[in-house]
Amino acid sequence: TRMVLLGPPGAGKGTQGQMLSQRLGIPQIATGDILRNAVANGTDIGLKAKSYMDAGDLVPDEIMVEIIRERLQEPDAQQGYILDGFPRTVAQAEALDEMLEAIGQRLDRVVHVDVDNETLVERLSGRLICRDCGATYHVRFHPPAKDRVCDECGGELYQREDDQEETVRSRLEVFAERTQPLVDYYRQQGIYHKVDGDREPETVLGDILRLTEAG
Ligand code: AP5
Ligand code: ZN
Repeated sequence: TRMVLLGPPGAGKGTQGQMLSQRLGIPQIATGDILRNAVANGTDIGLKAKSYMDAGDLVPDEIMVEIIRERLQEPDAQQGYILDGFPRTVAQAEALDEMLEAIGQRLDRVVHVDVDNETLVERLSGRLICRDCGATYHVRFHPPAKDRVCDECGGELYQREDDQEETVRSRLEVFAERTQPLVDYYRQQGIYHKVDGDREPETVLGDILRLTEAG
């Protein structure tokens, strides 16, 4: 399966992507995670990307397309993947289509995880992430057993730089302006599906898996 998870910041793309990856045995390719790793490691891409990310803006398309071009060539991506956070602009979607077409492939489906803005602000301002394994928590909706400690690996939990309320609001605007047009783009291709993301994670997962099995 070659799947795209589309959705505003905080919709649960990362949460669903992690679960789908385990269930389907294919990698979750999250461009936000790739960029945050690049920033943490001080690579060229990281240096270029940091200011955009901190402001809640999109990193330029050329950089993103190159990241994906390389990532999709890795051995673990040959049996399918879940793209989480890419594409985010029509230019990125077109570049991806061209890339796939060149090797005789196409996307199977695009799943839009839909959640209203007030819920998104609430989710993101309470989100905590494990520094060591990347697991995601929420201070109220999904608290760790021990304060600021990861249930999975014992790592330290932290709040993301761009999860402050003001930055969250700009990210939501950027989604509406730059990413929302992808709904029509993929509708026209006949591979667009929307799921209600404002339910228990397992319930949302069930819907996505049913879409996947439906072919
Ligand atoms: P990225 O890391 O992709 O951030 P995002 O799209 O803003 O998405 P998030 O990770 O914030 O949310 P999510 O949908 O994964 O939700 P999650 O599962 O964590 O991108 C960051 C930045 O990188 C961008 O701003 C941009 O600068 C740059 N970038 C990345 N890709 C790019 C691209 N292609 N082009 C240009 N720039 C790019 O859940 C959120 C919270 O809600 C958690 O606390 C979770 O526990 C909770 N939660 C999840 N599901 C549920 C549920 N069903 N019910 C209740 N709570 C839930
Ligand atoms: Zn952890």
